Amino acid sequence: MRHLRLGVNIDHVATIRNARGGRHPDPLRAAFVAAQAGADGITAHLREDRRHIADEDIARLVSELSLPLNLEMAATDEMLEIALRHRPHAACIVPEKRHELTTEGGLDAHGGSNAFKRYVDALGEAGIRVSLFIDPDPKQLDAAKMLGAPVVELHVGAYCERYLEDPTSAETKREFAKIEAAADHAEALGLECHAGHGLTFDTVGPVAGIPTIIELNIGHFLIGEAIFSGLDSAIRRMRALMDKARADAVGSRSA
Ligand code: PXP
Repeated sequence: MRHLRLGVNIDHVATIRNARGGRHPDPLRAAFVAAQAGADGITAHLREDRRHIADEDIARLVSELSLPLNLEMAATDEMLEIALRHRPHAACIVPEKRHELTTEGGLDAHGGSNAFKRYVDALGEAGIRVSLFIDPDPKQLDAAKMLGAPVVELHVGAYCERYLEDPTSAETKREFAKIEAAADHAEALGLECHAGHGLTFDTVGPVAGIPTIIELNIGHFLIGEAIFSGLDSAIRRMRALMDKARADAVGSRSA
């Protein structure tokens, strides 16, 4: 059974810190808690407007964290320079719009094709594992393959939103089927497949049950849930739900 990795996104620890300035709560401390609670990696998005994670956070995460760091970044020269300077384990190229509340959709790897190539190449040549954050759409996966990215992260936000409205609706099922098909397509193309955006205790199980997905990146829900149960407990529960869903899915396929 392939281990399903959990990347904990700590952006919103920095959101809370920045609401007052100062140093508390410290995203690095959250990263240490995540490591203890069973995270396999830490994800952080250094946005152009620095609304949460700051440059200094990236420097501290790279120098003090023992877990791999996945730097989410827009395809800009500024972010490329920062990634090449810090050399995180991985970089995930994401679309970024200045006024969006969160990453609203996947990258248009298909439409924007060659624009991303030099970022994928430069990061790859520096030994940084590159992923492209894309919608679960076969043409985006084909484009990611053409661009030479070894990894894709599927944007599962549409499925999660539909699920929260009505877990059994035809629309929810349609969105989920797109993720399953995209994960199969990634496997056929030889791309490592990750998923993220909007995952909660309720939505994580079905996605974790797709055996060709090998990493989930989860942030907002975990940090929000930490208010009620603590970060350690929220991550441990997420980890347990992921592991159970993966074990159940593997068991039912081999039965
Ligand atoms: N993966 C990527 C590429 C993202 O941009 C985000 C959000 O920043 C996440 C995962 C985590 O999404 P959420 O915070 O909704 O769990």
